[in-house]
Amino acid sequence: MPPLKVLFVTSEVAGLAKAGGLGDVSAGLPLALSQRGIDVRILMPAYREVIAKLPHVHWFGDMPGRAGIPPARLGEARLSDGVTLYLVAAPTLFDRRGTPYCTPDGADWQDNDLRFARLSLAAADIAAGRGGLDWTPDIVHANDWPGGLTPAYMQWDGTNVPTVLTIHNIAYQGNFDAGQRHLLGIPDAAFDINGVEFHGRVSFLKAGGFYASHVTTVSPTYASEITTETQGAGLHGLMGSRAAQGQLSGIVNGIDESWDPGSDPYLAHHFDPDDLNGKQANADAVRAGLCLRPSHGPLFGVVSRLVHQKGLDLVAEAANDIVENGGQIAILGLGDPEVEHMLSRTSRRHRDDIGVLIGFNETMARRIVAASDFTLMPSRFEPCGLTQMQAQRYGALPIAHATGGLTDTIDDGTTGFLFKTLTPAGLMAACHRAFDAYEDAAHLAGMRRAAMARGFGWSASAAEYEALYRRLIGPRLTAVMPRREPVRRPEAVPATDVLEPAA
Ligand code: ADP
Ligand code: GLC
Repeated sequence: MPPLKVLFVTSEVAGLAKAGGLGDVSAGLPLALSQRGIDVRILMPAYREVIAKLPHVHWFGDMPGRAGIPPARLGEARLSDGVTLYLVAAPTLFDRRGTPYCTPDGADWQDNDLRFARLSLAAADIAAGRGGLDWTPDIVHANDWPGGLTPAYMQWDGTNVPTVLTIHNIAYQGNFDAGQRHLLGIPDAAFDINGVEFHGRVSFLKAGGFYASHVTTVSPTYASEITTETQGAGLHGLMGSRAAQGQLSGIVNGIDESWDPGSDPYLAHHFDPDDLNGKQANADAVRAGLCLRPSHGPLFGVVSRLVHQKGLDLVAEAANDIVENGGQIAILGLGDPEVEHMLSRTSRRHRDDIGVLIGFNETMARRIVAASDFTLMPSRFEPCGLTQMQAQRYGALPIAHATGGLTDTIDDGTTGFLFKTLTPAGLMAACHRAFDAYEDAAHLAGMRRAAMARGFGWSASAAEYEALYRRLIGPRLTAVMPRREPVRRPEAVPATDVLEPAA
């Protein structure tokens, strides 16, 4: 049987350009799929930082533009793990200093609509055999709003290849001014509630959610949460109708196998459940590095994007209590200046016990997780979350809000602590359970052992994606794209709690 061919469309790949968990997923999942014999090829923009990291890119094939979307060249490179990477090069859009989405000052690029329409159009062209490749995919798997227009262009072009859209975070929707639609090559008829229109704007995520053959998200609990008004960020109606037709499912992410406390090259001291001296040595080093006083109390770690979603205002409010109970906190993060300042102020009040590092730094991330006894994750919502899985592997028992993927990947009382009431008191109640466990050496050792034994590899998730791909391809020989019932416009705008400024 010829291998299943998958085009994996993404705006981030860890090791090349990463802003968060999507980057990790876009490195880990394609590799795991290829290990199952699937011919998976990644498509991403040729950002300046990506080109700088790849010495051997073979450039070929010119792709035409469409409407206001400029033409592009396609490049091919081989990643160190053997996976094939295609790069969409449009220098006016991607050859810049900054992150995949933002200027070096942290502001969204003003032309993000054109930038990611360019990515999606390239995917649609490859699917239609127009990419100048001697390869076409059996399935196109797009991710998040930057890939959202992929299934839409394919539908408008009549390309009958099944598509999957994975939503990693429904709060980031890629909503743009309606006037842009002509520049983006969106047909007038598609600017409709049954199409790309969302509250009078063009929504890339809505487009993907509407036109994809199937929608997945990154945990079963989040798949059900996004059908509700409080968590669906205005798209709960569409998600509910996809779910009712069996076209929405949740597949939990995995983590990279390099997250191994016995061999992680980023760690100065290795450890395992039977010998935790290395963990203690990592903790001493982190305390010294953050100028915290030596302590025998527990170290609570935070490694996070510093955004409203992550609920770190609760950490700031609980910080006094944690310190008064003998705990210390090590924080690494980057994000909204307001959240950064809030945490810096908290640390200034407890200089000996709370350290904050502002930045994005893989080495420090791993060292803090390895050093920590507990990891704080009071996320308001969390589609999957990778940090709590990394934390369990490193025996840093997560203390987390019972939401989304945190619920699905933490075994309360066995590998971590879940709390339901999202208030500083709710968080503190869970922290007190953690303090109690810390005092009871046998209990702590048992929980750490259970947490560190959790695999969290990618293979189970990859098997689920493969089953989904095969199910979608099966009927393709006879069927046309699935038809969906029209959706009703939701009456209420989403609760502000789940809304972040759409990028
Ligand atoms: P999200 O994608 O919402 O940011 P996840 O938990 O899914 O949350 O993934 C976050 C990923 O980014 C993890 O691999 C985590 O270790 C990493 N990470 C987050 N913040 C930082 C940081 N400041 N420096 C280094 N790595 C970070
Ligand atoms: C998003 C979510 C996070 C998830 C990640 C990878 O960034 O916020 O929960 O783990 O995507 O799927």
